[in-house]
Amino acid sequence: MKSNSWENYLGITTFGESHGIAIGVVIQDIKPGIKFPLVKIQKALDARKPGNKRFASGRKEEDRIQILSGVLEGKTTGMPICMVVYNKDAKPEDYENLKNIFRPGHADFSLFQKFKIYDYRGGGRASGRETIARVAASGMIDHLLQDITIKIYPVKIGKFESSNIDTSFQNEINWLDRNNYNELIEYLKKIENSGDSIGGIVEVKIENIPAGLGDPVFEKLDANLAKAILSIGAVKGIEFGDGFILAELQGSQANDQMSKEGFLSNHSGGILGGISTGQNIIFRFVVKPTSSINIEQKTISHTGEEVIFKSSGRHDTCIIPRIIPVAEAMIKLVLADAISYQKLIDNAQLEINDFREAIDKIDEDILIGLFRRQEISKLIGEYKKKKNLKIEDKNREKELLEKLKLKARTWGFSEKQVSTLWKIILENSKKVQC
Ligand SMILES: Cc1cc2nc3c(=O)[nH]c(=O)nc-3n(C[C@H](O)[C@H](O)[C@H](O)COP(=O)(O)O)c2cc1C
Repeated sequence: MKSNSWENYLGITTFGESHGIAIGVVIQDIKPGIKFPLVKIQKALDARKPGNKRFASGRKEEDRIQILSGVLEGKTTGMPICMVVYNKDAKPEDYENLKNIFRPGHADFSLFQKFKIYDYRGGGRASGRETIARVAASGMIDHLLQDITIKIYPVKIGKFESSNIDTSFQNEINWLDRNNYNELIEYLKKIENSGDSIGGIVEVKIENIPAGLGDPVFEKLDANLAKAILSIGAVKGIEFGDGFILAELQGSQANDQMSKEGFLSNHSGGILGGISTGQNIIFRFVVKPTSSINIEQKTISHTGEEVIFKSSGRHDTCIIPRIIPVAEAMIKLVLADAISYQKLIDNAQLEINDFREAIDKIDEDILIGLFRRQEISKLIGEYKKKKNLKIEDKNREKELLEKLKLKARTWGFSEKQVSTLWKIILENSKKVQC
């Protein structure tokens, strides 16, 4: 199973472990001649890395992207692009003592059950570092998105809710409610000092999205967005539009009624039947509290003995600020697929015109061919007259017809049609020769 590939628009495969040599991505399907957006990709990676972010892990990584192939003089060549980020602050030796322990909340136990072997160094492939590859790949999509804008912000962290959203309010945790920001920071500091972590809910608003994106039944837009978002570590749930509140509503409250001007509400979150309606797409997803905490917890070893485990070192108090750039990357990958599928449908409507254009051109070519043939026949007639040669050559005519019939058989059309056509062509030739 190609479970490390997202094979549609870009055909990407990601690779690498948290404490291995590097994390990377191979992009197989890319047009040649596209300006390679190196600066943009690096900026997106900078937004994803913990760096010196408040309430983030202390791992110091530059996350400098290196292009190994597929780009020449700043442009894509159409060959596979391989991008890597080397793990510079990897300390696999720090994980020696975890080799035989299943860390609570992490994927250690399930990976071991499945493969009987797993990279225990910082989560290996289940680590948040794996998402570097997704963010890097999504940098190749912006040209497709045109006016579409993607807004992503937390609406809930712990018990704090962001109810007065002000998009001009900028801060390191992307919290958009000025009113309770300071209180929230104090709360996060307390959680951090206690060695614990906290979860939250993130809202996504996709604006200027055209109607018609998403393909029933297995490529529905909401289904693909859900899969993409749920593929991010620590994301545990997703709801579109009014989401789980719909359970409390009646149809008369939940339906988005319409007028000549358009929809009168957006309970559906901009998607009906898996297809975008042209309204803003709105969904929310929940992020669980960071699994690594500096608090003692019960677990077991690989041989089943009970042990007390406590993470050491700094961890992300809340992963949300780190997940936002990853969610954006996954949304871009889904939209790129939906836009490219839609282009196929749009082109299919145009195809009849394309075919007509092509067939008209062939008809014209046939006429030009016949005209040229007549010209040459005329020259042959004049030559034969000059040399006192017989104009008609029945044997040659017969020989040529047999050759044409043979070709007709291999091309799969009828000998009768070829004979009729040949008769018309010869008659025309004779007219100009005599
Ligand atoms: C960008 C990003 C950073 C993450 N950082 C951490 C971290 O520092 N510590 C941690 O315990 N989990 C972190 N996670 C979450 C784990 O990867 C995830 O919880 C774990 O693999 C178990 O998977 P699950 O929660 O999806 O079941 C991070 C996830 C992402 C996407």
